[in-house]
Amino acid sequence: KTISVNIDQPVAPVQSTMWGVFFEDINFGADGGIYAELVKNRSFEFAKPLMGWSVKGKKIKEGDALVLSRQASQSNPRFLRLNIKETSKGDAGISNEGFRGIGVKKDLRYDFSLMYRKHKGDILMHVELVDDKNNVIGTTQLKVNSNDANWHKQEVSFASTATVEKARLNIWFEGNGLIDVDMISLFPHDTWKGRKRGMRRDMVQMLADMKPGFIRFPGGCIVEGMDLANRYQWKKTVGPIENRQLIMNRWNVEFGHRPAPDYFQTFGLGFFEYFQLAEDLDAAALPILNCGMACQYNTAELVPIEDLEPYVQDALDLIEFANGDENSKWGKVRTSMGHPEPFNLKYLGVGNENWGPQYVERAKIFQQKIKAKYPEIQLIFSSGTDPDSERFHYLNNELRGMKADIIDEHYYRSPEWFLQNASRYDSYDRKGAKVFAGEFAAHNNNKIIGSDKNTWQAAIAEAAFMTGLERNAEVVNMASYAPLFAHSESWQWAPDLIWVNNLNVYGTLNYYVQKLFSTNKGTSVLEITREAKPVSGTDGLYASSVIDTIKKEIIIKIVNTEKTALSQNIVLNGKKKIAVGTITTMEGDPDGKNSFEQAKNFSPKEQNISVKKQQVALNLAPNSFNVLKLKY
Ligand code: AHR
Repeated sequence: KTISVNIDQPVAPVQSTMWGVFFEDINFGADGGIYAELVKNRSFEFAKPLMGWSVKGKKIKEGDALVLSRQASQSNPRFLRLNIKETSKGDAGISNEGFRGIGVKKDLRYDFSLMYRKHKGDILMHVELVDDKNNVIGTTQLKVNSNDANWHKQEVSFASTATVEKARLNIWFEGNGLIDVDMISLFPHDTWKGRKRGMRRDMVQMLADMKPGFIRFPGGCIVEGMDLANRYQWKKTVGPIENRQLIMNRWNVEFGHRPAPDYFQTFGLGFFEYFQLAEDLDAAALPILNCGMACQYNTAELVPIEDLEPYVQDALDLIEFANGDENSKWGKVRTSMGHPEPFNLKYLGVGNENWGPQYVERAKIFQQKIKAKYPEIQLIFSSGTDPDSERFHYLNNELRGMKADIIDEHYYRSPEWFLQNASRYDSYDRKGAKVFAGEFAAHNNNKIIGSDKNTWQAAIAEAAFMTGLERNAEVVNMASYAPLFAHSESWQWAPDLIWVNNLNVYGTLNYYVQKLFSTNKGTSVLEITREAKPVSGTDGLYASSVIDTIKKEIIIKIVNTEKTALSQNIVLNGKKKIAVGTITTMEGDPDGKNSFEQAKNFSPKEQNISVKKQQVALNLAPNSFNVLKLKY
């Protein structure tokens, strides 16, 4: 049975947004993860003000270290007041444990900074990093300069002398006096693009390597919040970081691996930084906003329709923040943050996994108000999870009825479901709403947990399914695996695409599948058939094909899900002459996976193939995903 590809007749364009990434602050994705701040609870605003901190030293007595609250600030009221009495180094201090410890690297420099106001006295601070045996592995001093009882910022940088996964930060106060401290912070110098107080370079690099077409942010359920008070509000995430009001993370729950009572969103990584990241990655920014409904798996709190206006206004203002000029209120905020050029926002999502007539009612209001002012913005509405349910079909019909631009579908299902649904979009209406496969991942056996779920069995099922998305790129304009990141010591949800700890990062097999699709997305879909039918499951084979008219490549993706190898002939029908090509293969045991120790256990391997008389003879390995690139 031959596979035929019509190489001269593109069927439909592949959108530049086809393969993207879905970012959420879940599993320590942002705080404790990509946001490179190493101090936990830097502003004493966690539910327990001294969470992450301990007060140390023999000369610090009860009442000498007090958490106070200033009435003048609603966003960051608390600070720590220290009364220092004739102390030397080691007599009186505070110590921070970091998120799951503080990961530091030998010879790398770190910026320590804080805000303080000194009421009286003369104080020298000793800042030090210590390893898990209390050995000092980096130290510096900071002389408190200003003495005028106003808040000041001060910064000092120093190097670590060792690589340690779980260091602590100590600050000793020497001298005499009364001092208030706040926003105590430590950042490494090796951030992404060297931006001060920026993001972990190794984690962003993993995204950059994928060349994603879009980045969806700030997440799924955290957009909704457990309740409306804890929903994501973008306006509270821009401007000076000391004014960004933190909230409890919606994933601060006993769910999955470990309870995370110390999981908060400080918003040091806020909407400006997300837009900037999208720009860095040359990816379309895709923000999702709350639609006036809290998470329906939790409180299901609703804003009455008559009070929805501020939510809609947030959406309108976000478009102005991204695209407005400096004469507009929100464009000016962006400009003041150092980005006078617009971010060129084109997509906006309203609601995440919300459902019922309440969602439809709210979605229509958003649509009408946003389209009236910004008809060019493509609006995304969600038909949620549970793709075979009545709830899902109801929403799909309603959203199509209101002529939604794009509908966001989610599926966390078994590998078998992914194989059975590879043809899901073959029958979707070509003229109606486009599809955003906004969150998907194959979830195997519930008895295995954490990164052990990221098996080849799951990844190959996703690859097979994704050939169906690609074949239907006329309808499916965007797709992203979820969740994106997980910290190995603080995760709530698995599987995840990329695992990290305080020092290292590795891509799962699922990551390499996503990367192979997104770095080989092509510009148009080509028809690919086997016995005149789409290659979608027969004999365990799944395939799709695209042409890249810029790189002059025909790209064919073929998945063999069988336990046996298969000889397969491919015929290229058309006038373009193909002479050379490569095949990149991922293959292996369905239970196989990558890990920190074996970060590239079975990552893709590339070799040359010969093309004779417009034909390629392949021997497809068992359980393999193959990407052929043929030059014309
Ligand atoms: O990706 C994890 C969660 O799954 C998202 O927050 C939510 O949208 C979905 O239920």
